[in-house]
Amino acid sequence: MTDRFEGIEACVFDAYGTLFDVHSAVARCRDDFGLEVEAAQVMSDTWRTKQLSYSWLRSLMGPQHYVPFWQVTGDALDFALETAFPGGSPTGLRQALMDSYRTLDTYPEVIGVLEALKNGGMKTAILSNGSPEMLASVCESTGCAPLFDAVLSVDELGVFKPDPRVYQLAMAALRVSTPGSISFQSSNAWDAAAAAAFGFRVAWCNRFGQARERLPGSPDIELKTLEPLPAIVGVA
Ligand code: LAC
Repeated sequence: MTDRFEGIEACVFDAYGTLFDVHSAVARCRDDFGLEVEAAQVMSDTWRTKQLSYSWLRSLMGPQHYVPFWQVTGDALDFALETAFPGGSPTGLRQALMDSYRTLDTYPEVIGVLEALKNGGMKTAILSNGSPEMLASVCESTGCAPLFDAVLSVDELGVFKPDPRVYQLAMAALRVSTPGSISFQSSNAWDAAAAAAFGFRVAWCNRFGQARERLPGSPDIELKTLEPLPAIVGVA
């Protein structure tokens, strides 16, 4: 493991789980709908797990089965709600959760890290499964929007991560000549592995203390938060 990346031209971030707290939607609605803490967490975990597996499965089923991540997110929520409330979920809960997903919280260090990168002259971008509208609204509501040079969605490709065309999209959009000029940050271990297999320098932000994936590609650095990133890429 290294503690510095040399020659980085752009810092590219995964969105959900890395910058934006995917569990903040359920946490926000919990009290309004009288949900018990543990059951709410199980529901949030099911929602996220299904959202990711539906993205992978649709990609495997072929391009004709691609739908924007917003629909995948809604489908996954329907599964999670039916599992949690077999007799029917509380009125208004689905709508409140989907609305909250457009305005998720950032993790505490995110804005400061992005500001430090910008002040240091580093190019910054999001590379996400998220559909363009949902990314635009969460960037707007969190105040992140001016801190990114580009917000890149897989939607223009019609396939989800970890298809290598997604990582290629970042290289083309940011006009970098080699994958090793991009520092890629993700909290999703499978995304970190795939980005490393593609050739990015990868900082795996292991927010949830997960075990390392047994997949091709190894992240170069493992972090607990994004805090050390400016120093890693040499702008602090
Ligand atoms: C994303 C998901 C994978 O933002 O978190 O692409």
